[in-house]
Amino acid sequence: MAILVTGGTGYIGSHTVVELLNSGYKVIIVDNYTNSKPEVLNRIYQITNKKPKFYEVDVCDLDKMEQIFAKEKITDIIHFAGLKSVAESVEKPQLYFDNNIGGSKVLLELMDKYDVKNIVFSSSATVYGIPEHVPLKESDKVGGCTNPYGQTKLEIEYHLMNYSKSHPDANIAILRYFNPIGAHVSGLIGEDPQGIPNNLMPYITQVAIGKRPHLNVYGNDYKTVDGTGVRDYIHVVDLAYGHLCALKKLEEKPGLVIYNLGTGKGTSVLELVHAFEKANHIKIPYIICNRRPGDVDENYAEVSKAYKEMNFKTKLNIEDACRDSWRWQSQNPNGYDE
Ligand code: NAD
Ligand code: UFG
Repeated sequence: MAILVTGGTGYIGSHTVVELLNSGYKVIIVDNYTNSKPEVLNRIYQITNKKPKFYEVDVCDLDKMEQIFAKEKITDIIHFAGLKSVAESVEKPQLYFDNNIGGSKVLLELMDKYDVKNIVFSSSATVYGIPEHVPLKESDKVGGCTNPYGQTKLEIEYHLMNYSKSHPDANIAILRYFNPIGAHVSGLIGEDPQGIPNNLMPYITQVAIGKRPHLNVYGNDYKTVDGTGVRDYIHVVDLAYGHLCALKKLEEKPGLVIYNLGTGKGTSVLELVHAFEKANHIKIPYIICNRRPGDVDENYAEVSKAYKEMNFKTKLNIEDACRDSWRWQSQNPNGYDE
């Protein structure tokens, strides 16, 4: 059983590769390093003492991808490779459509040709658009995504649904991630954003290490517990484990399944800031700013389906994530760069 992991040197991919290797899976990574560094592979080796096979290839490159499918005995795919910045997708929508949808289409074409039955796809809670209620269930309405990034995720979900209809023996797990934070407990791998972080936790850790003077809290007039935005923060190691649960589920030949991967619990921006301060004994100065366009009040997952159907349950909490994010940041002040 060889698992092709696209985007396997990225943030979620690298943590998932570690879990896969530690569980004895054979892993083949494809990544073009658009948003990751070769050093990740050394770190994976330091943690697991194993070296996954690696191809520096763009998943959109059909010819090069076909060479990999022809050579390797791929049984399953976990498809992380994609661009993920909401802001960049607004500036460069074509790039997002070409890269995210293009890469997924190449994989489906090769699955068909090389008779690969199983695929796990990284989708996002963003497909729910502006939630009408929380917690969000897998059966809730999707659509109304306000940015091209979210639209690519939804579009790929539709492609997978069509593929499933035309290939009844294919097994597809669409995983809708909520907000991954945290890092591996070793502090050797973690989230390494380029430039100014868009997301909350990397911004907090950069304030903690002195790279940024304060956190900008985007609005305190939302309809939430303290006025700041509420999200469902899931530890990246729990999220990674969710992919192993999904692979096991696919062995039951379920056809197409969709699961939220979250904790089921909402945490506000200020609650996360205070949890970080408490876990690490570091003060995080912040100022309240205007709302960020496109942000919603509250967003958290209904998680019972993933538990009932694939026995997925988170084990780590916000404090673990705050401690692990800080260990990663403090041991690697410049991420994977020396
Ligand atoms: P990441 O940017 O750290 O990892 C993505 C990896 O894919 C990178 O290593 C990048 O170099 C690679 N990649 C991108 N385009 C490629 C291509 N055409 N060919 C080969 N490799 C390519 O992002 P992440 O946070 O690990 O996210 C992984 C997946 O999960 C993405 O599809 C993302 O959209 C999705 N997701 C992420 C979040 C989040 O908050 N991090 C939330 C929901 C969904
Ligand atoms: N926030 C701040 N200051 C910051 C960064 C974020 O106050 O510097 C706030 C946001 O306003 C929001 C919360 O922190 O209330 C979380 O923001 P993130 O940017 O970390 O996460 P989002 O929920 O906005 O976005 C994430 C992913 C997207 C995905 C979306 C949908 O980054 O890719 O979840 O679930 F589309």
